[in-house]
Amino acid sequence: MALWGGRFSKETDRAVAAFSASVDYDKRLYAVDIQGSIAHVRMLAHTGIIASADAAAIEAELVAIRERIERGEFTWRVDREDVHMNIEAALIERLGDTGARVHTGRSRNDQVATDERLYLRVEADRLSGLLQGLQGGLLTLARRAGPAILPGLTHMQNAQPVLLAHHLLAYIEMLERDRERLHDCRRRLNRSPLGAGALAGSTLPLDREFTARELGFDEVLRNSMDAVADRDYIVEFLACLSTAAMHCSRLAEDVILWVSQRFGFMELDDAFCTGSSLMPQKKNPDVAELVRGKTGRIFGHLLGILTVLKGLPMTYNRDLQEDKEGLFDAIDTMTMILVTMAPMMASATLRPEVMARAAADPALMATDLAEWLVRRGVPFRDAHHMVGRFVSACAARGLGLDQVTLAQMQESIALAEPECLTLFAAARSVAGRDLTGGTAPAQVARQLAFWTERLGLTAD
Ligand code: ARG
Repeated sequence: MALWGGRFSKETDRAVAAFSASVDYDKRLYAVDIQGSIAHVRMLAHTGIIASADAAAIEAELVAIRERIERGEFTWRVDREDVHMNIEAALIERLGDTGARVHTGRSRNDQVATDERLYLRVEADRLSGLLQGLQGGLLTLARRAGPAILPGLTHMQNAQPVLLAHHLLAYIEMLERDRERLHDCRRRLNRSPLGAGALAGSTLPLDREFTARELGFDEVLRNSMDAVADRDYIVEFLACLSTAAMHCSRLAEDVILWVSQRFGFMELDDAFCTGSSLMPQKKNPDVAELVRGKTGRIFGHLLGILTVLKGLPMTYNRDLQEDKEGLFDAIDTMTMILVTMAPMMASATLRPEVMARAAADPALMATDLAEWLVRRGVPFRDAHHMVGRFVSACAARGLGLDQVTLAQMQESIALAEPECLTLFAAARSVAGRDLTGGTAPAQVARQLAFWTERLGLTAD
């Protein structure tokens, strides 16, 4: 019998079959496809559309097919196009007429949307766990950083000193929002398309609430056309991954800078670096570079799905089959990023003495001097101006801000007192930023305690 049944008198052209087949990649949906089919036949029996005995036989055979797939004994056939047709055809081979009842009141259009939602629900939870793993790796490093201070940068220029732990905690916050976004996306995608049929529902008395409950969906999608036509849940999912990958890429960039000879703040464990085939001295941060590089392909997949969707008339169009490869690749890429980055960060060696030397640049404390003047009643804009003049006078003398005498400072800042000469210590500067969210050790200790508890690490 031709794959497409009575309407067709010819087999599909071979090149067309190869062009349109998706089984090579959508077979990864086999478990959720079977899960959806089991819920569907239970519903068909519950509503009396098919006999309970048929439903039970179908369910048992679906379980057997799943086991065959997992043992690697199932033959996937490209001429059967996709995961849905492969499993259904195998069912019919075994059960004949009984198997032929599984697709009652269902289309691959609502089936594939169901599969994808079930699949992404699991992936959202798994990736959220991996993001938490990277948070844990960063927290491990942050706790090891102790009081280490490094120059905080804006515009890649020395700005103000910060605790390294504060810097790392910033990424933990970003990753937390990535997890929130994934949970939010999961909440919106956890709705059932089943029963939407090809696009308009069914003349059969399907119980959509029943299948939704069976599959753990929070609710039923209200509109059958929406249920089969849209893939916004994939757009959202890829947007979540793009944002998370962007954060990982920025962290990777910091690591690449920190391990460079110019910075020298950090060294990566040998297990996370590679050498050069030519230069014997090299130890390169390839993992971090690949994180930065692979982030691009995740962004590409987001743009890919948006482009697939933008011109589609309602409802299902075969273009939608193009929603999967990019999604799967993004999930695999994100997984690799997170599983390599977490241990890479946790195992890094810090060079606090090199950071301290960099953070000793007195110019980093220019703001502290301006704020000292503010505390003496000087309007901030005037204080900013005076300190600016002082910085430029020091530059003209070829002296650091901490190398001048009080009298020299007073030429630019008449109000200066001996205390002003003591403001140029990074540790003092950091300790002074003692407000919520600031980089003072007391504040950072609170944040570390918060995240240690939140991530379930043991405090030491
Ligand atoms: N493999 C198809 C996809 O992923 C399944 C749905 C096919 N539906 C259809 N009417 N041809 O989109």
